[in-house]
Amino acid sequence: MKKISLRGRVFPTDLNHAGTVFGGWLMGKMDKAASIQIEDILISPAVTVAVSDMSFLRPVYSGAIFTIYTEVLAIGNTSVKVDVDVQIKCRDTHEEYSVTHAVFTFVIIDDNKRPRNVREVIRDDIDDYIRRKL
Ligand SMILES: CC(C)(COP(=O)(O)OP(=O)(O)OC[C@H]1O[C@@H](n2cnc3c(N)ncnc32)[C@H](O)[C@@H]1OP(=O)(O)O)[C@@H](O)C(=O)NCCC(=O)NCCS
Repeated sequence: MKKISLRGRVFPTDLNHAGTVFGGWLMGKMDKAASIQIEDILISPAVTVAVSDMSFLRPVYSGAIFTIYTEVLAIGNTSVKVDVDVQIKCRDTHEEYSVTHAVFTFVIIDDNKRPRNVREVIRDDIDDYIRRKL
């Protein structure tokens, strides 16, 4: 089940020399959105260990309002995979379309920064669709 984890607007300082959004800036937003999704289901620090299937599908321009949707794809022993989809809302039609997509993998860590079992730190109030992935 997809949920909104982050929204914002692109400013001129967020662009590359071609005049479209700088990919690294957008990746940072995606990482933050994924980390918010992680914190919604776990009570523990977590770090990004991998990013896969990164695709920049369409250019993003200054002034665009973006919405980052996240969805928990899989829960491992110490890791969680989050699907991250960035969408832009067309100013005229209000239709949304995907501009960037990736899968972020987070590892839950303990006080010594070592991997920790997800099931020790899962929140009680998680949605049923997430509980079914445990
Ligand atoms: C994250 C970290 C603690 C993992 O330590 P590690 O010794 O590699 O841990 P493990 O090999 O036991 O792997 C831990 C989990 O990560 C997964 N993992 C490790 N590398 C991965 C990769 N490249 N892609 C996908 N998953 C990966 C493993 O499959 C395992 O998942 P599971 O327990 O659910 O099966 C360590 O790599 C680290 O500190 N990395 C730096 C993190 C960081 O600074 N991120 C950027 C800022 S947030």
